[in-house]
Amino acid sequence: MKIVCTIKEIQKATEELRRKGKVISVVPTMGYLHKGHLSLIEYARSNSDVVITTIFVNPKQFGVNEDYKRYPRNFKHDKELAKNSGTDILFYPQEEEMYPKDFSTYVEVEGISNILEGEFRPNHFRGVTTVVTKLLNVTQPNKVIFGQKDAQQAFIIKRLIKDLNYNIDLIVKPIVREPDGLALSSRNVYLNTQRRKDALVLYKSLIHAEGRIKGGERSIGKIKDEMMTIINSGNPTKIDYISFVKPNDFSIIDRNIPDEVLILLAVRFNETRLIDNIILIRE
Ligand code: PAJ
Repeated sequence: MKIVCTIKEIQKATEELRRKGKVISVVPTMGYLHKGHLSLIEYARSNSDVVITTIFVNPKQFGVNEDYKRYPRNFKHDKELAKNSGTDILFYPQEEEMYPKDFSTYVEVEGISNILEGEFRPNHFRGVTTVVTKLLNVTQPNKVIFGQKDAQQAFIIKRLIKDLNYNIDLIVKPIVREPDGLALSSRNVYLNTQRRKDALVLYKSLIHAEGRIKGGERSIGKIKDEMMTIINSGNPTKIDYISFVKPNDFSIIDRNIPDEVLILLAVRFNETRLIDNIILIRE
């Protein structure tokens, strides 16, 4: 595995690979890799010639009162994990490399970036779409792999790829969970033993909703109330949202469950903000 830290060097490497006709996949991450990230890298390994994993904790997607400074980092460990799961090139730029002092261009996907996560994290998606555009430009991949864990992010990047006419396939892989159901996240390290237990209410509430919908319940109001009761049993500091959307366009549904629904939630436990979701399709 080659480690590349400069834009110039990654551009040179990928231009050469493209010229040779290699199929390149890129897996963008902020590091502190876990099995969720590794599932994306492994997918890329099995479906392309060259796997580029990027690690960059992107300051532009964190709000002023958010966790940029304390976001977990462990490059030594990440290096091993990235290599063992099949990365060929690890792109690991420093902040000045991605954002020189005179940097002033931003990419924004309007509308969808301002709801759900965007409502509670203003400018978050502007930071994400800006950095992802840069990463796509410098790596020139055939495919880019994202996780369903960040469902809205994946949807926004899909729109970005379409709107800006990138000739890139976006692949979204399922959420990887701990055996007890907690969705893997780099931020799970913030949870103490009690909060780690409390956080199980997120998945529990999603599974409850799934059971109710499969059992024929159609009222979103009712299901949401029941989910709220389950989540409140874990003493959350705040429920930012529990939302039901149509997976194909992210339009909010507030009355009856349609044939396909994506349920998304964001909940805070002390300083730790967790997100989770489930997609339900009627057979
Ligand atoms: P990060 O949170 O490190 O996540 C990188 C990728 O891993 C994302 O596509 C995310 O959805 C996926 N992922 C995280 N947890 C997962 C899980 N439990 N199962 C499956 N996939 C999972 O998302 C970001 O970084 C950044 O916003 C980034 C796109 C890199 C831009 O800075």
